[in-house]
Amino acid sequence: MPDDVFMASPEDIDPDSHIVGVYYVESGLGLWRAGVEIAKEESIGTWTELTTMTQRVVERLAAKVYKVDGEKRLVWVAYPLELFDLDYGGIPNLLSIVAGNLFGLSALENVRLIDLKIPREVARHFPGPKFGMEGVRGLVGSRMGVPHLGTIIKPKVGLSPRETAQVAYEAAIGGVDFVKDDETLTNQPFCPLEERLSHVMEKLDQVREETGRTVLYAVNITAQHEAMMELADRAIEQGANMLMVDVLTAGFSALQSLAEDPSIKLPIHVHRAMHAAMTRNPRHGIHMLVLAKLVRLAGGDQLHTGTAAGKMEKEATEVRKIDDFLRGEWNGLKTVFPVASGGIHPGIVEENIRLLGPDLVINAGGGIHGHPMGVRAGARAMRQAIEAA
Ligand code: 3PG
Ligand code: 3PG
Ligand code: MG
Repeated sequence: MPDDVFMASPEDIDPDSHIVGVYYVESGLGLWRAGVEIAKEESIGTWTELTTMTQRVVERLAAKVYKVDGEKRLVWVAYPLELFDLDYGGIPNLLSIVAGNLFGLSALENVRLIDLKIPREVARHFPGPKFGMEGVRGLVGSRMGVPHLGTIIKPKVGLSPRETAQVAYEAAIGGVDFVKDDETLTNQPFCPLEERLSHVMEKLDQVREETGRTVLYAVNITAQHEAMMELADRAIEQGANMLMVDVLTAGFSALQSLAEDPSIKLPIHVHRAMHAAMTRNPRHGIHMLVLAKLVRLAGGDQLHTGTAAGKMEKEATEVRKIDDFLRGEWNGLKTVFPVASGGIHPGIVEENIRLLGPDLVINAGGGIHGHPMGVRAGARAMRQAIEAA
């Protein structure tokens, strides 16, 4: 098929009836031709002419490159909505198209999906967050403009249910709004989920009696799909007030199943373990902003987006952009509470708030449980650092 089947001018592309992928591309082909390769592979073409092609398929389903930026090496590819199976295929189908085979095409040396423009018509097929930033704040009784303080129980694995609950208690008394499991702890024999949850909730009830404060506990139910849904039910029976899922290892449809289930009336904390395999290389992979958009569609209420200062790879302006996206209006969906986590301690709280904004969950594991005077003092030090900032 001639290249022009896969090319258009910007005025021919109706943003309401296309999903647009913005790609950074390195290719000896030049940007327009590289864009055509993406549009072709991800819509109706392949490496050769097809005897099975029909005029109807060409007219209705060809994706089109309609813009390039030579300086930034960007190409814009528009995918007609008819290409997608939004009701059944959802995010898996969406990703197989906009982020599918293209990453392996030998004609492209490097390619990175840096943004995905999703019209309202598409967003309406997804649940979005049940609570969002404002809803989570409502549960805790906090006001906008003040960061939430969270902690990850450390060591990340190994404590018994009772030990975990005691650490949660100390952190809560010290001033955290939110306690979470680490991404690798789920239902291991040394710390079975239901037992852990019931002990932690008992301690957090005690905190409420003693201080009047509600503290959230995100219990990590990441598991095989059926098992995860069962863990969610069991967690609700044990009085859970928040759930947690590792969205990339479990899959976006796992998150969506939780968010869509009407019997689950809890916010969902989303960890992004494994994201850096896609997001870290600035020349190849998928930008975190795209993953953040998908998490918002699928129904995450809180999402790790990185820190402006901390232990993980970061670029403050990039993280800020993602956090602002999560906090802003988008297709009528609720907001998502951004979470800064990884290597945060009191000394770098101010920098994170200044660069990322105050509507943020500031999470510290080592920064609380590594305090020389213990967990309660560690939580208090983090709280003081937030107040000082
Ligand atoms: C695949 O999914 O492996 C490709 O669609 C292969 O298609 P091709 O044989 O036309 O390259
Ligand atoms: C996380 O899951 O966000 C990390 O476990 C953060 O832990 P740290 O504060 O000890 O780096
Ligand atoms: Mg962790």
